[in-house]
Amino acid sequence: QVIYLNGEYVSKEDAKISVFDHGFLYGDGIFEGIRIYGGNIFKCKEHLDRLYDSAKSIMLDIPLAYDEMEQALIETIRKNALRDGYIRLVVSRGPGNLGLDPKRCPKAWVIIIVEQLAIYPEEAYRDGLVSVSVSQRRNIPDALNPKIKSLNYLNNILVKIQANLAGVGEAIMLNSQGYVAEGSSDNIFIIKRGVVYTPPCYVGALEGITRATIIELCEKLGYSLKEEPFTLHDVYVADEVFFTGTAAEVIAVREVDGRTIGGGKAGPITTHLLGEFRKTVE
Ligand code: PDD
Repeated sequence: QVIYLNGEYVSKEDAKISVFDHGFLYGDGIFEGIRIYGGNIFKCKEHLDRLYDSAKSIMLDIPLAYDEMEQALIETIRKNALRDGYIRLVVSRGPGNLGLDPKRCPKAWVIIIVEQLAIYPEEAYRDGLVSVSVSQRRNIPDALNPKIKSLNYLNNILVKIQANLAGVGEAIMLNSQGYVAEGSSDNIFIIKRGVVYTPPCYVGALEGITRATIIELCEKLGYSLKEEPFTLHDVYVADEVFFTGTAAEVIAVREVDGRTIGGGKAGPITTHLLGEFRKTVE
C-alpha cells in the first residue's frame, strides 16, 4: 500500500504524522470518503467541491489547487493498482504547538489513503439491516454545521458506540428537536405510499453525495421525493427505510427499535434504487 503524504508517496509504515498535528490534537481538519469503481473516481468533482467548501468555511488553506488534488488522487490510485476501492482524503491543519491557535500551524497536511472496501455482505443488501435509534443528538447548525465534513467525528463515534452496544451496523440519530437527522456515517431515507422522504440537511445531516445521487435517480425514475423533517414514528410506520453513504451505498433497513419495517426485507423501491445506483457507478 502506497500512501500520499504531503506530495510524497510513502509506504504504510512510513506514513506518519507529528504528535503536534492539530488534526490529531484537536480534530482540526477535514476529510472525504470517496469510491473508486472500475478505476474511476465516483463523483470526484462533488467530493472535491465539498472538501474545498469545508476548507473555506473553517479558513483552512489547502496547499494544492483543485486539479493538483485530482491528480494526486489519480496518481495514488495508479500506484496502488486499485480498480475498486475507497479513498480517504484528509486535510489537517498540520503541525503547530500545543495551543489550539491555527495561526501556529504554518502548513496544512494532505494525506490520501486508498484501500479495498467491503462493509456489508451482499445478503445485507437483500435482507436489510437491523437498526436502532440512539440517545446521542446530532450537532445542528448552531453548533458545528454538519455540512462541514470535519475531523471532529466524536458526535458520530458516540452513535457508533451505541450501535455497537445494540449489536447493529448503523443507528439513527435525532436532532435536539427530535427530528430524524442521519446515521453515524450515512444519510437516511424513508418511503411511504410510494413517496420517498429524506430529512433536509438543516435538520442536522451531512449533504451526502450518495444522498444527492439518489435524489437525482428518484427524479429520473419518476418517484416523488420530498425533503422534509420526520420523526421516529414516521420511520416505524414507513413501508421502506434505507441508508445511503459512500461506503454503504444504498442499504435497506428491515427493523428499527424492534418494529419490522414493511415486509421485513429490502423493499421494491429500495431494491430498484440500489440496482439503478449500481448501474450509474459501473
Ligand atoms: N460517511 N453522514 C455522515 C455523518 C457521513 O460521515 C457520511 C459519509 C454520510 C454520507 O455521505 P456521502 O454519501 O457523501 O458519503 C452522511 C463516510 C465517511 C463514508 O460513507 O465514506
